[in-house]
Formats: sequence, C-alpha cells, structure tokens
Amino acid sequence: MKTIPIIVDCDPGIDDTIALLTAFVSPELDILGITPVCGNQPLGRTVLNALQVCELGGRPDIPVYPGCFRPMLREPIHGQFHGKTGLGNTTLPDPVKTAEEMSAVDFLIEALSLASAKGEPVTLCCLGPMTNLAVALRIKPQIADGIGRVVMMGGAYREPGNRTMTSEFNVLADPHAAHVVFSSGIPIVALALDATHQVMLKPEHVTAFSRVGGRISHALGELMAFWDRNDVARYGSRGGPLHDPLVIAYILAPHLFGTTRARIFVEYESELCMGQTIADWYGKSGLEPNAEIVTRVDAQGVIDFFLDRLSRYAEKVPA
Ligand code: RIB
Ligand code: CA
Repeated sequence: MKTIPIIVDCDPGIDDTIALLTAFVSPELDILGITPVCGNQPLGRTVLNALQVCELGGRPDIPVYPGCFRPMLREPIHGQFHGKTGLGNTTLPDPVKTAEEMSAVDFLIEALSLASAKGEPVTLCCLGPMTNLAVALRIKPQIADGIGRVVMMGGAYREPGNRTMTSEFNVLADPHAAHVVFSSGIPIVALALDATHQVMLKPEHVTAFSRVGGRISHALGELMAFWDRNDVARYGSRGGPLHDPLVIAYILAPHLFGTTRARIFVEYESELCMGQTIADWYGKSGLEPNAEIVTRVDAQGVIDFFLDRLSRYAEKVPA
C-alpha cells in the first residue's frame, strides 16, 4: 500500500492525544515525526506529553522534535480545558523514550527539503499554534515545495471564537504564524470551529470508547471523560467538540467531509479581533482561494470512524 507521509505538529493536549493515537494505528500513514510546540501547555510539557503518548500508543519508534518554546511575537497563552498537565487527570508513566536533539524547525527544513527533492510531498497535520512551520518557512521558504498540503485545526469563520469573541485558540495563540502559513501559497485544508463543533464527543460515546480494548482503553476513557465541557447551552449537548482528531479523520476518510474553497486571512494587529480568521467566500479580495474550508461533517460517520480505528489497539497493542 502506498502510504501518506505526514508530520504531526501539535500541542498535546487531550484532543491532540486522540488524534495521535488514531494516527499511530493507521497503516495508511507514514508518520515522519512529531513536532510539539508551545500551546495548550508550555513546550517542556507538550514534549513530555508527546513522548508519553508515543509509548501509550506503542509507537516509541516515531521521533519527537522539540519545537518553538513561545509564539513568534505574542506572549504565550495556554489551553483551559486540558487540566494541569495537558492530559486531564490521566497520569502516564515517565517515558523511557527521549526527544531528539534536533529541533522541530531544523527537522521540518531537513525533511521537507528531502521531500521536495524526491518529489514526495508531505502532509503537514497542524494541531496547535503554527509557530514551528512558520519559523521554518521564514528560514527556508523553498520547503513549501515539499508540502503537499497543510491540514490544520484552527480558526473560526462562521462560528464565534472559543478563546475570545472572534478567535479560536490555535490561531489566537500565534496569529503571526498563521499569517505566514496562510500567505505561503501552500494548499490548506482548514478544519475550523465551523467543522469541529459539528462533532461532539458525548458521554455515551466516551463509554463506547472506554471499551475499545488494548492498553489505551483506560487512559482513553479518562481523557475523553475529562474533555466533557458539560455546557449544553454553548454546545447544544453534553460532551466536548472533537477538534484535532478531525485532521486525521479528514486525511483518512475525506468522504465524511464537505468543503468550500475560499481565500483565508487572519487579523494580527487589532487587539479586539486579534487572531480572527476571515474567509473571502465570494472573491472580494481579488486573491485566489488558498484553502478548502470544511463546512460539512458527517458527525456519526466520524464517531464510527474513530471507534473502528481505536478498537484496533485491542489486537495490535494489547494491554
Ligand atoms: O481550539 C481548539 C484547539 O486548541 C485544539 O487544537 C486544542 O488542542 C487547543 O490546542
Ligand atoms: Ca491542539
């Protein structure tokens, strides 16, 4: 089977963890590396969490490259729904695995330059603030030729923000990085709150996931239960929106999603609307579309997809 080369840029993070665990057990994906960044948690913690999740998922083989320890310009902000450590109240063993000496930025430059030379473009899965990719692009813009597409969780187009009135956390945390990526010419698939709020991980789903079997069952059930916002007025139901995992689902099951092409922009100067993402749906900017914005999601299909994938741990990575 021809595999899809990916790099997972992330800030674990409970939903980042679900995305990683799904990717680990999907043979269609060739995970070249994981590049944690300052986001939900400070960098030291997102690196540690990534190492622990690699071991939880039975994938200590995947290299973890420490990324940027703060956004390009703004002061760091951190996640509010991931608990003190970024992994809810789940305690994972201290990892035997260690992070690579090479930085995430150097790894991105090396790996994407090679991908360009070989004509085998990589899919960049961006699950957190896009600082690592933006800095790499600023050092060597030609690496864009080694990126087939950026599939990113971030932004809010017709939805209000989740961290401020206008802005979603990943883009708000580093709007300058988002601007570098949005203006790079690299094709973007944008899984914004418009998409992720269509898929709520409800308590009944959590019960099903906690029974998938294998070594991840207990931790997965704990992490997913912690993710419940319990805010029916805001989300229309119990549960938490499945943000980052939709990036992996989109790559592996694109038939579950519908998109609309548009040019996307980000506000990085206004304090009131800092990090707001704007879609030019009707060509008013005169600029060519640069993104497929996911506007439709088969929510039940996505839940079924994750149940199928994560159930594979029962035989592949037994307890
Ligand atoms: O707004 C949702 C995003 O912010 C997700 O990536 C979540 O992990 C947090 O980083
Ligand atoms: Ca994230």
